[in-house]
Amino acid sequence: MPINFREKEKEFHLYNDSLSYVICVLPNGHIGNLYYGKRLSENMSYAYLLENKYRPLTAYVYEDDDCFSLQHTRQEYASYGSGDMILPAFEISHEDGSHLSHFVFYDYAISKGKPQLSGLPNTYVESDEEATSLELYLKDHNSETELCLTYTIYESRAVITRNAKFTQRGEKELCLKRALSLCLDLPDKDYEWLHLDGAWGRERYLQSSLLHQGSQSIYSLKGASSAEHNPFIALKRPDANEHEGEVMGFSLVYSGNFLAQVDVTPFHQTRVSMGIHPLGFEWYLKSGESFQTPEVVMVYSHLGLNGMSQIYHDLFSQRLARGEWRDRERPILLNNWEAMTFNFNENSILSLAEVAAKLGVELFVMDDGWFGQRNNEKAGLGDWRVNQKKLPNGLLGISQRIHQLGMLFGLWIEPEMVNKDSDLYREHPDWILHHPKHSQSQGRHQYTLDLSREEVYQNIYQQLHDLLANHGIDYIKWDMNRYMTEAYSYHATKEHQGAIFHRYILNLYRLYETLTSEFPHILFESCSSGGARFDPGMLYYAPQTWTSDDTDAYERLKIQYGTSLVYPLITMGNHVSEVPNQQLLRTTPLSTRANVAYFGSFGYEIDLMLLEEEELELIKKEIDFYKNYRRVFQFGNFTRLINPFETDDAAWQVISEDGHHVFVGLYLGLLKLNGPSYHRLHLKGLEAEASYRLNNQVYLGSALMNAGLVINEKDFTEGYKDFASAIYHLEKM
Ligand code: DGJ
Repeated sequence: MPINFREKEKEFHLYNDSLSYVICVLPNGHIGNLYYGKRLSENMSYAYLLENKYRPLTAYVYEDDDCFSLQHTRQEYASYGSGDMILPAFEISHEDGSHLSHFVFYDYAISKGKPQLSGLPNTYVESDEEATSLELYLKDHNSETELCLTYTIYESRAVITRNAKFTQRGEKELCLKRALSLCLDLPDKDYEWLHLDGAWGRERYLQSSLLHQGSQSIYSLKGASSAEHNPFIALKRPDANEHEGEVMGFSLVYSGNFLAQVDVTPFHQTRVSMGIHPLGFEWYLKSGESFQTPEVVMVYSHLGLNGMSQIYHDLFSQRLARGEWRDRERPILLNNWEAMTFNFNENSILSLAEVAAKLGVELFVMDDGWFGQRNNEKAGLGDWRVNQKKLPNGLLGISQRIHQLGMLFGLWIEPEMVNKDSDLYREHPDWILHHPKHSQSQGRHQYTLDLSREEVYQNIYQQLHDLLANHGIDYIKWDMNRYMTEAYSYHATKEHQGAIFHRYILNLYRLYETLTSEFPHILFESCSSGGARFDPGMLYYAPQTWTSDDTDAYERLKIQYGTSLVYPLITMGNHVSEVPNQQLLRTTPLSTRANVAYFGSFGYEIDLMLLEEEELELIKKEIDFYKNYRRVFQFGNFTRLINPFETDDAAWQVISEDGHHVFVGLYLGLLKLNGPSYHRLHLKGLEAEASYRLNNQVYLGSALMNAGLVINEKDFTEGYKDFASAIYHLEKM
């Protein structure tokens, strides 16, 4: 069992080949952290790592032990009020007005496998042999509240997951004001912290800085995980890079408000905290009720950032994503949004579809504009019935024609939203998140439905069920185009108000869970004004996400590079779009747009009717090429090679599951006159002794990795120019 318990020292050691995580019961009964890092021997105690030092004048020590202070002790789920002065993992408001809690360890359980969280997305195992789990039970004797801290260590992945659960066993009601998923104390501060930040159209840009004393945090208060900050951070040793050195990743499996915070104490210890954002959060627990926090997935790598990413990629594609589509190759799609926006009818849709089918497109997606009075952004959301004026033969008519053309049929929905100009709003004006005495903020002329209310949930569920059951739909793009404001639930009790954001997310997950179970053949792609809800919570239900509304190939390099820090290629929806690009007016070669988009779930978002014959020919070739190798591009082992945040260029590679095919993508920014020439690109992860063929030349793996592949101007698909790109295909002999 990769979890050892040493009875005498009350010490738990979670280990596998890559890592060790050692925790213990502290002298006051709380749980402390002794070690997290590279694998240690499981045959000894690490109790010597517990700080036991007299610090006169500077510490708040226990009355009966001058050397024991929470202020200096690394804890696993820290509480505030008894000496620890850093922001805690939780806060409970008790009936007597006290905010003090004292959770003391009383029991534990070790079991094979991984318990699943009820109502929340989480990673899983397919056999109990894949992981071992530890549950630590603590009790606050004052309030009789129970706290269960759950850890799972995977046997052959450098992954530990954590979550916490509160259960009120006493008679009195209490209010949870903060209940994070993770608190981890580390013994020094010599890290850079990395996070993925941005905004609409430039999601998941890589940011990093050295830690400093005090707090540094990222968060979302938007009701969605957001484009501005992804629910992920990493701590990296300053000497670690993409391929070597120690990196720890922390990813929250959640799609709503979150906080990820790193505190460095005056004594240069580091606390990592992660979970639901506590601002405005209140969750009342009556006797017998529980609150379950979302899961945090911790990854440990001593092979740098790529090492960390590959562990996340494997885990998220194989043990987070689920369902029929998890392991299936994803169809090449054509989405009509950039070509038509709201302006289409049955004839124009079918004309576009006919050309798409001829080129080899496999899935035709009809985006926004097919329902209610949806002729612009101002109307229709909420009325999920076909617009007969635009589509006189209904959705079924369209889907049958698309199927006859040999393609799958996909549809866009945005079920969490409503326009005031809609039948749904006219019938139920009180169903939106709003306060009756407060002004309302609109975003894109739309309002957020109060999904925390059961009747709202039921209405949306029924509309979606009817849509999916009766119209020959094979794919759904589930959008969400505004963040939440005025988050007040009309009619609900005072106690309900602090829980709205989380209840909304729980019901969103419930909706996804119900629909994906009822319609397992449908491929779901999540979307939120592009990539504003690209998070592990969504991937549990929808195994791919629209990466960004920014489809400019040059900008996409950064977006896809940053996204790849955590998320596997198969989860990224990447489309070739028209030039000049609709968002940036930049013109990049058609080949570059495809060479960038290949690395993920590939598709087009372009008006094929406006293209020259030559361009259509090129697109047909691209489609044929991708079909031949899509398994590699979607499921291969991905490595970042040149960082577009550090240079104007970018490069990455993917190796097929069987190691036989290697594709390298190389992308240039602006050409440099008389710039550095004769570049060598150092490939990674090849077999040193194996031979690889590239364009009739044979190279040894060791040469390609150590001496490098020499880049030549003639390698670029459409010539050597601004935004040129090349794809190298190496085959192992
Ligand atoms: C935002 C999405 O990101 C786009 O791809 C498109 O579906 C629009 N919404 C439609 O309103």
